Amino acid sequence: MKILGIETSCDETAVCVVEAGGPQFEPGFKVLGNALFSQIAIHAQYGGVFPGLAKREHAKNLTPLLENALTDAGMFKKIDHTEISHTAELEKILSREIDLFSHLKPFLETTQKPDIDAIAVTAGPGLEPALWVGISFALAIGKEWNIPVYPTNHMAGHILSPLLEQNVLEFPVLALLISGGHTELVTMESWMKYKVIGQTRDDAVGEAFDKVARLLSLPYPGGPEISRLAGEAREKNITPSFSLPRPMIKTPDYDFSFSGIKTAVLYLVKKIKEDNKSDELTEQQKLEIALEFETAVTDVLLAKTKKYLEGNEVKTLILGGGVTANKNIREAFTEMATQFLSTKLLIPTKDLSTDNAVMIAIASYFDIQSGKQPATAISAKGNMSLSDE
Ligand code: KG4
Ligand code: ZN
Repeated sequence: MKILGIETSCDETAVCVVEAGGPQFEPGFKVLGNALFSQIAIHAQYGGVFPGLAKREHAKNLTPLLENALTDAGMFKKIDHTEISHTAELEKILSREIDLFSHLKPFLETTQKPDIDAIAVTAGPGLEPALWVGISFALAIGKEWNIPVYPTNHMAGHILSPLLEQNVLEFPVLALLISGGHTELVTMESWMKYKVIGQTRDDAVGEAFDKVARLLSLPYPGGPEISRLAGEAREKNITPSFSLPRPMIKTPDYDFSFSGIKTAVLYLVKKIKEDNKSDELTEQQKLEIALEFETAVTDVLLAKTKKYLEGNEVKTLILGGGVTANKNIREAFTEMATQFLSTKLLIPTKDLSTDNAVMIAIASYFDIQSGKQPATAISAKGNMSLSDE
């Protein structure tokens, strides 16, 4: 079957066409078309993602991205202008999305229905105004072209994304999801049987990277910047002259806390600046802080994951979310996994680790295979949890 995937939960607008087939135990996926626009540069000037701005950008970009994805898939065909059949209903769906409507309506009027069997759209978790645009877009297209629409959990997408390249998933699964909005350890006993066993009590890992980067006067998003400095520090064999806390590393649960490390960096930076008698940190001091911060975060993520692997049978360990782009974290997990011979580690490629529509189409395929029914009304759920699936 051919699935149109739509993702707008944060600052990436993405539309794809994925061909999916095979039973759940032996699925096969092929990306036929994939179009993504990252708003990072737009939000960078404000030092973080602004939901209202994200929403406007999604509304503006969804229709051109749909056209690009369909063109890639060889499914975009213009037709002579026709009246769209459900104008009143479409207007209702799109009434809260005027910007979206002004782009989508002329597109639907002049585009032939493509050979798509299902539409998958992220319904949560994420920024609600951003999620709503994607949902309205999906429902409007579904209505006009008479294609079933399936609400999809963004985190399930992160977990299942490696299946684009793997044609088997062995249970039980443990997934560590680390992004700008989430830090979760999730188990999966079988298809669609998720349980969030631990999560952050305050900041998400990516958020901590971004906040610490700001303390070091580095641009947003801070993760790649810290990662670059920490890498440079390792190359130069720098040893930090201070240490940062590893919050909750020894607690008996699987929860995390990262705001303490960030606060420790705040006080450290203040103290160093006083000692420097300057409002600036030296390059060497920035390298030391980036290195020690990245090491502290990696230590905590590793310790909690390892604790679960030691006490439980896990056939597949999956890392997901934007922070898995971090080289040190990838290497540390790859090294740790060699101690667990019966556990296979799956880390999606960088393109699949950050937010994208392909993972949404993939997750939806498994939902559909599990008997999930399409929806005619979908609500955005900013704090949607995998435990509720
Ligand atoms: O999953 P994602 O693309 O978006 C969501 O938050 O859903 O993750 C973005 C986060 C940002 O906080 C960014 O700083 C972080 O991932 N990130 C990194 C790296 N690349 C991106 N964090 C650490 N090291 C990196 N190399
Ligand atoms: Zn994400």
